[in-house]
Amino acid sequence: MKKILFYLIFSLTLTGNVVFGQDRLRLDVDHTVAEVTPYMWGIFFEDINFGADGGFYAELVKNRSFEFYEPMMGWKEAKKREGEGKIFILKREQQKPANPTYLRIDSRSDKGLFGVVNEGFRGMGIRADEPYYFSVLGRQVGELRPEVLVELVSSKGEVLGSTTISGFSREWGKVEGSFTSSQTDAKATLRVLVNGKGIVDMDMISLFPENTWKNRKNGLRADLVQMLYDLHPGFLRFPGGCIVEGHDLSLRYQWKKTVGPVEEREMIVNRWNTEFMHRHTPDYYQSFGLGFFEYFLLAEDIGAEPLPILNCGMACQYNTGELVPLDELDPYIQDALDLIEFANGDITTKWGKLRAEMGHPKPFNLKFLGIGNEQWGEQYVERYKIFAEVIRQKHPEIVLVGGSGPKPEDERFHYLWKEMKDEEVDLMDEHYYMSPEWFLSNADRYDDYDRNGPKVFAGEYAAHGPDNDHPMSKNTWLSALSEAAFMTGLERNADVVNMASYAPLMAHIEAWQWRPDLIWFDNLNVVGTPNYYVQKLYSTLTGSEVLNITLDGQPLTGQNKLYASASKDIKEGKIYIKLVNASDNPKEVNVSINGGAKVSRNATAYLMTADDPLAFNTFENPQKVAPVQSEIKLKGKAIKETLQPMSFYVIEIDAKF
Ligand code: AHR
Repeated sequence: MKKILFYLIFSLTLTGNVVFGQDRLRLDVDHTVAEVTPYMWGIFFEDINFGADGGFYAELVKNRSFEFYEPMMGWKEAKKREGEGKIFILKREQQKPANPTYLRIDSRSDKGLFGVVNEGFRGMGIRADEPYYFSVLGRQVGELRPEVLVELVSSKGEVLGSTTISGFSREWGKVEGSFTSSQTDAKATLRVLVNGKGIVDMDMISLFPENTWKNRKNGLRADLVQMLYDLHPGFLRFPGGCIVEGHDLSLRYQWKKTVGPVEEREMIVNRWNTEFMHRHTPDYYQSFGLGFFEYFLLAEDIGAEPLPILNCGMACQYNTGELVPLDELDPYIQDALDLIEFANGDITTKWGKLRAEMGHPKPFNLKFLGIGNEQWGEQYVERYKIFAEVIRQKHPEIVLVGGSGPKPEDERFHYLWKEMKDEEVDLMDEHYYMSPEWFLSNADRYDDYDRNGPKVFAGEYAAHGPDNDHPMSKNTWLSALSEAAFMTGLERNADVVNMASYAPLMAHIEAWQWRPDLIWFDNLNVVGTPNYYVQKLYSTLTGSEVLNITLDGQPLTGQNKLYASASKDIKEGKIYIKLVNASDNPKEVNVSINGGAKVSRNATAYLMTADDPLAFNTFENPQKVAPVQSEIKLKGKAIKETLQPMSFYVIEIDAKF
């Protein structure tokens, strides 16, 4: 009795809570259960929530080419400063079918400034002392050579930086300028003003920070790419999502229209623009400045395998569900073959040559290709078959990804699994947007999956709790913890589950359509959610071989609300143990490490927890729920730890095998 009392008091002092008993876990280090693919933990990118335009793609001017349905959306006439004039929208459809619309500024007074102002994507995020690069495609109309003043204006109306450009001629051509901003402002705007009399035609009015990711001209937002880089992702799936399918077929994603000179990439409306009435975003378009070449480059930069998903001849079945007749699928299949050539082909081939001209003569080494996104029904299987037959024959080296529909366990799902297995698809893309409870009770989902069928690509998943006011409040600690618990099941079954990615990836706090999301940003800042940090712990502390970690001989899939998985990396000399305590109470675990490996006396523990399961990160408190690193001591070949309530631990042990 005395002993029990002592134990209770001791436990209470450690954690402030009562520890109930001890769970004795056994880790077997000698026996490898499965290999983990080097591309196991990846990312899913879709242009949703202002992910590309207004997000990753660092262009600051919205509707730079005046191709929005309302050509002046994002633009207005600038307040007159003595100047006088008129603004016109013109079209040159025959010469420039992909980008016909342009702006004419007809400045009619000898003195003063007349022109337009662009509002940016919910303003322009500008940083003090940083250089900005302005460019425009333009020409002079009439006799007078126009002089154009470009001004970056703060939210308070002060000029933060400016440049004067005057290199226009009668032929269309690029005119450039640059300046440095004197202040930081999240809501700046851009004025483009003709000084004095003159007529100038303008298209592709553009402003980029010079400090982009890898300082690439007209590149990607460095802080956002850094977040991806830090994940060490195994693959990059792009360009989505439903965006691949389109609301109807005319609005499907067509990769060929996203490569080559940006001014020739035909802009289309973003399908998320009007998808949800409560999150209407009428100014959401796809400029394709972030197109397939840039996606491949991004994948290469962050060390990820590129995984493009192509339209299979079906529009989104939640929208029109339009189908391409089977005997008219050829252009779609040709797109797939040409994409392989674009990515991997010799520079003497048509598409390989374009890749080289765009600056990447070396192949991108494409290995994976997805046929269709979230399709269902026999129409999908029929189309997949036709694609697969041709691709298998011409490119047997390509790993094909097929879909299993939008839900993890309905009739459509079971039908597709059966059919696609018969088709011997390599990977089946499964999607689950489910409750945290579902994730907690499905950690054993793959334990009994067929080991001889297609492998699984958990291509889109996220735990969805109830709706709340704050946009980021669906990214609760509870949701992240339940994903961490579920992911022990993915890791344990790495022989079946070869790839996994959370979805969606990004959201602009002022322009989102879908939540929860892995990363939130505004025009200047970025925040990792608790879910992001869970992904990061998995993707950066990954072994190459799965080990057995058991309680009473059974894998931990939620008994006593405990979850676990383990892995080792012989080359790196590491053992990783992942432990989730999903209960409200602390839990003492004793993990005995069995086998021939010599383990270090100290290990590193990465702990995530929060007092409140509904806690979430914000711009004001971005690290509220984030991993905390500490050192723990092993007792011989055992780890004794009191796991905090509602906690996720990764324990990293140095080992000699
Ligand atoms: O991730 C958001 C959407 O969810 C994807 O576009 C689609 O594939 C799924 O329905």
